[in-house]
Amino acid sequence: LASIRVDVSGIAEGTQLTVLWQGKPVFIRYRTPAEIEASQAVAVTDLPDQGAENANLPAGSEATDANRALPTPEGSEVAPGAWLVQMGVCTHLGCVPLGEQGDFGGWFCPCHGSHYDTAGRIRKGPAPRNLPVPVASFVDATTIQLG
Ligand code: FES
Repeated sequence: LASIRVDVSGIAEGTQLTVLWQGKPVFIRYRTPAEIEASQAVAVTDLPDQGAENANLPAGSEATDANRALPTPEGSEVAPGAWLVQMGVCTHLGCVPLGEQGDFGGWFCPCHGSHYDTAGRIRKGPAPRNLPVPVASFVDATTIQLG
């Protein structure tokens, strides 16, 4: 699978960049401390989908906030857990969710009303699974490779 590299140096805290990868949108969000704390405060047992849905982790990993976020690179001044990379494809029927909307401050899919939290985990609505985290890694302090 073709990989791409994305320069994230221009993404401000509390905003996201959407890039197209393999024909699908990928959301790259620089989360605020409040977004991270809101996600960390949720018990995994309260989640509809308790799996991390993270291609970088072993199957069966729990949907903790840490297991959803992209590890921050060495030498980065960005707080641990600040980067969240996930497919922008609703796990219900594939619409593109809207950022900073919905009941949990994360993403909202307007097609049939699925609410995702600030870690991209499904919290309410018909979508069965968390937004998938694709294979991703930092190749330097400000560049993320997808795939
Ligand atoms: Fe997102 Fe149906 S496609 S809620």
